Amino acid sequence: MVWGINSELLRRFEASVYASRCTSSIRIPYIQLSIFVTLPTFDHMTSVEAKDHALSTLSKRGQEQASNLARIDMELFMEAAGNLFHPTDNLEGAFPLNVAENSVMAGRIQAEFNKILKESSLPMWPLKYTSPAGFPETREVMAQFMRKYFESEAITADNLVLSAGAAASLEVFSFAIANPGDLVVIPAPAYPMYSKDLGIKSGMERWDLQTHNDISKYSSLALVTPADLDRAWAEIQAVGKVFKLLLITSPDNPTGSTYTSAQLAAIADWCIEHEVHLLVNEIYALSQIDTSRPELSADYPNPTPFRSFAGIMADRQSDYLHLIYALSKDFAISGMRLGVIHTLNEAMLSGLGNINIPQMASNLVQWLVQELFKRESFIASYVEENQKQITESYLVVVRMLRRLGIPYTPSRGSLFIWVDFSAYLSAPTDQAEEDLWMQIFRDTQILFTPGTGFQHQKKGLFRIVHTAVSTEDLQIAMDRLEAYFNKR
Ligand SMILES: Cc1ncc(COP(=O)(O)O)c(C=O)c1O
Repeated sequence: MVWGINSELLRRFEASVYASRCTSSIRIPYIQLSIFVTLPTFDHMTSVEAKDHALSTLSKRGQEQASNLARIDMELFMEAAGNLFHPTDNLEGAFPLNVAENSVMAGRIQAEFNKILKESSLPMWPLKYTSPAGFPETREVMAQFMRKYFESEAITADNLVLSAGAAASLEVFSFAIANPGDLVVIPAPAYPMYSKDLGIKSGMERWDLQTHNDISKYSSLALVTPADLDRAWAEIQAVGKVFKLLLITSPDNPTGSTYTSAQLAAIADWCIEHEVHLLVNEIYALSQIDTSRPELSADYPNPTPFRSFAGIMADRQSDYLHLIYALSKDFAISGMRLGVIHTLNEAMLSGLGNINIPQMASNLVQWLVQELFKRESFIASYVEENQKQITESYLVVVRMLRRLGIPYTPSRGSLFIWVDFSAYLSAPTDQAEEDLWMQIFRDTQILFTPGTGFQHQKKGLFRIVHTAVSTEDLQIAMDRLEAYFNKR
């Protein structure tokens, strides 16, 4: 047997996780894309030849995916995850702060699911096929939840489609709207995996819209304006491409910024006028920072409440406006895989009836989530507690950054802080950024995501997931990082 890309790290990682005495639970995101295992057909082949032979059996598309890592930080993540910090057993251990997990709320949600499993018995319907858009009653419960928290009476079971997580929602959505080579415009910096989620199946290509260089331009508000979109439109026309989709994330990954209702309305009207689809990804909608905390108020001179795009969709009633949401982050269940598309476009809803079939959410998950969302008082207290805990972990990082005078964008929501370590770069290049990232990891065992994949023009920016470990462990990580920077 020949192990290819990442397989050795994967093996070590699995062994260490199973043998781990640590209580934290770690998942491997998108791991299926980075495993490459094959059986050589001929004994005389070297492992390189065997790998080349196996590649040659795939389609061009398959070869491209088999040869690329899903994420730049995957290998180091696996290394870090195999040596996790533990307060008694592994004091020198690692803190992988690069994967967007909401670990600060995972225990709370696990306890509630355990109660559900004790108090309810599994009905028959999860064992059978159901509508490709999701089980009707689950969609009804989801619609009730979204009407309340996304503040739009226009959300109904009939205009929701459930898929296996936001990644699946993005994939089926892009397949429904784009021809190969069409462009999705995404304000930079943006979530690296968008390229794959939106591009692998549909053939859509990513166009990163630069709106600023220095992060000091950012308040907690996003910067995209109709003038930026005019500029992108002209540049895309000039190269003969089609501006098919504008994708914005609110609260944003990685900056944590949000869009006001006025901003969303102006962007929506621009898209309707130019016949461009607008998709607003609100996967972090309920992970909001409490900006009223006195310690934080200086960062938010004009605090604006988070507003979902759903209200503007209801108002405009356009075939071009859409929203996605998922439970992976706010509800700390990234492994359960539940995403939702909300659209008023009837043709899209019909098309998804076919396209969504391979990406349907598991009925078992739908049933569990339906039971969870029926517990309205639990949901209300969970949402409040989530925001409290997220603000606490955010503050742990902010205090350290302030002491060191390191710039960051004040986050309005999400699980991230976007920080500027450019003062520590040896040169303003991708290589220097990668070197600094590695050096920090090698010296401190703290892993971030470097800015490269986020496609922002400035070098030296990094994303920290402040909820990736418990807040107590995060404090230890930040003390270690502060000592490291103080020594430089
Ligand atoms: C902005 C954004 N969209 C989508 C996803 C993928 O979410 P899911 O795990 O629900 O597929 C993530 C995960 O990090 C994300 O940050």
